Amino acid sequence: MRTRLQVIQDIVDAVQTKVYLEIGVEEGVVFYRVKAPKKIAVDPQFLFQGRSKLRKNRLVNSLFYGNHEYFYEQTSNDFFKHHKQQFTTEKVDVALIDGLHTYAQVYIDIMNVLDILSPNGVMIIDDCNPPSAVVETPVVDSITEVWEKAKKGELAGWTGRWTGDVWKALVRLQSERNDLNIVTLDADYGMAVIVKGENKNNLGFTLAEIDKLTYSDLDTNRAKWLNLKDSDYLDEILPLLNKAK
Ligand SMILES: C[S@@+](CC[C@H](N)C(=O)[O-])C[C@H]1O[C@@H](n2cnc3c(N)ncnc32)[C@H](O)[C@@H]1O
Repeated sequence: MRTRLQVIQDIVDAVQTKVYLEIGVEEGVVFYRVKAPKKIAVDPQFLFQGRSKLRKNRLVNSLFYGNHEYFYEQTSNDFFKHHKQQFTTEKVDVALIDGLHTYAQVYIDIMNVLDILSPNGVMIIDDCNPPSAVVETPVVDSITEVWEKAKKGELAGWTGRWTGDVWKALVRLQSERNDLNIVTLDADYGMAVIVKGENKNNLGFTLAEIDKLTYSDLDTNRAKWLNLKDSDYLDEILPLLNKAK
């Protein structure tokens, strides 16, 4: 079975990626390992350790790392507000959306990425398939909210692993967009793969209905709502990904 990094790299390779964007980078565990000609990192607080701290300096990057990594230490909303115009000609081929894990923010991130995605580009959304209610615990503004609850002992079964309610963004997209094809690979905590194409899994929910959905609803309907596929399904998708080139 592929690791999370292998899923991402296989997709990056399949679409012959020139530009890779990662929203939510943390220590750079994925960002620094992914191989692509140009990589863009966005995070309000990079948590790079050791030498990788220096790597975000332009001069260091140009001298030692081929000058192909670009770092934006800001929220994704600020990044898109100030830098979207730079993608007028050079589009993003693969984006990993792994920033603030709230339904609202993931939806905004997806909408913003769609504006700068190449015609055959791919979005990968991390953490779409929470295995339990505690892992899914929704927050409003920040992961700190869930840490505070855990510290107070309010989250029975808390292990430190958190996905938030990212899954709701997939339910919304599949309800309102007929031009996006979405599958979720049962890899890691659910990796959704989104490409432009016919939506064959229209869910038909209204926004008000989606707002009311809970983890227990997801648990009963996850195969359909996430369009959940075994992780090996990626082998079927990969040959199709560069067809639009
Ligand atoms: C799960 S971690 C990312 C892990 C990383 N993608 C990896 O695979 O190694 C989530 C990251 O999202 C960042 N984040 C939180 N709010 C954000 C926002 N509004 N915009 C972009 N990133 C955000 C956090 O600072 C954190 O580093």
